[in-house]
Amino acid sequence: MLNFGLSKSPFMHCKELSLINFKNYQEATLEFSEKFNCFAGNNGAGKTNVLDAIYYLSFCKSFSNPVDSQNIRFEEDFFVVQGKYQVNGQEDDLYCGLKRNQRKVFKRNKKEYDRLSDHIGAYPLVLLSPADTQLILGGSEDRRKFIDGVISQYNKEYLQRLLTYNRALQQRNTLLKVFAEKRRFDEASLEIWDEQLIQNGVFILKERILFFREFLPVFNKYYAVLSGDNEVVNIEYLTAAGESNYREKLVEARQRDRIAQYTTMGIHKDELSFLIHDNPVKKFGSQGQQKSFIIALKLAQFVFTKEVKGFNPILLFDDVFDKLDADRVQHLMLLVSKEDFGQVFVSDTHASRIEKLFKSIGAECRIFIVEDGSIARIKTIKPKS
Ligand SMILES: Nc1ncnc2c1ncn2[C@@H]1O[C@H](COP(=O)(O)OP(=O)(O)OP(=O)(O)O)[C@@H](O)[C@H]1O
Ligand SMILES: [Mg+2]
Repeated sequence: MLNFGLSKSPFMHCKELSLINFKNYQEATLEFSEKFNCFAGNNGAGKTNVLDAIYYLSFCKSFSNPVDSQNIRFEEDFFVVQGKYQVNGQEDDLYCGLKRNQRKVFKRNKKEYDRLSDHIGAYPLVLLSPADTQLILGGSEDRRKFIDGVISQYNKEYLQRLLTYNRALQQRNTLLKVFAEKRRFDEASLEIWDEQLIQNGVFILKERILFFREFLPVFNKYYAVLSGDNEVVNIEYLTAAGESNYREKLVEARQRDRIAQYTTMGIHKDELSFLIHDNPVKKFGSQGQQKSFIIALKLAQFVFTKEVKGFNPILLFDDVFDKLDADRVQHLMLLVSKEDFGQVFVSDTHASRIEKLFKSIGAECRIFIVEDGSIARIKTIKPKS
């Protein structure tokens, strides 16, 4: 079992980032603080774009625009994003370059990767962005994707079985459609796929339940810190079948599947119910409470990732202060200012708000004032000694 204490462990941080023709940046080199780095500026200035460049170096892709070529600065032919990282005392150079109409090149210490998947996960990162509201407002698949992502990091068998499950599910659904078209229902040919769904489905269900047992207290702890311990939140895992009656339930659903023309029972339909004072957060949580819920999920994800990798992921907080009251902002930043959380990048529209905040919590912070795709000024806040 994993040990979820935020134990002191080797440290990872990005020391320097260089951009050429990346989104609205023509050329920029940024030297970062080991702890807090904030990007302040008006809408459209390029704050999120810097966070996105850091994200590129961890995940080999953008979090805001999945079409790589659209991240090349308008009317240019290529982009380069480079980063100097320090991991466990060792310095690593990461390089991501893309020429229009060519494939993306990704290198670590000048050596190109054969497969990008060899890189993903090596420089862990946890992102909080405005798009994460989907976790609450979106469909159940958004929530399942979140937990599947966290579990897959430490459990490779889980990922493999999930892929096998999804393939079998697709085949079974195709078959159900063919049955409807041909007006013929052949149970025997469904059974081949049922076996795969049951074996992998039961495994996935068991792992998700085990995961929740450990995840929930970590999540609750962080929500309590953020909210000042005023609100009771909970996450429930809702499933139509248990481990012992999974087969029975799948067989029972066959006639329903026949009419629906897809598989109506299984772990692909399970739901995570996000609750505040026993009511759905989606309907009864205020915007700030919903945001706090998401932040607590991400902080718990951070703890799990850190435990698995053995060192801290980088934390990216895009527009984190939006919707949060001053107390919650302070609780959050005090929490992540602790050494255990490592390097943090924050974007906000108000430089003065950031300055005031870091002065009040007494943490060192480098503030980059972003104006129209360049860094206009840099200001460092130092704690009073
Ligand atoms: N490929 C590109 N080439 C040039 N500019 C681009 C490219 N892609 C995006 N941009 C520009 O980047 C700007 C958006 O930058 P970004 O999202 O970083 O803003 P921001 O400072 O985070 O603003 P906000 O406060 O609204 O979140 C837009 O003006 C957009 O046109
Ligand atoms: Mg932004």
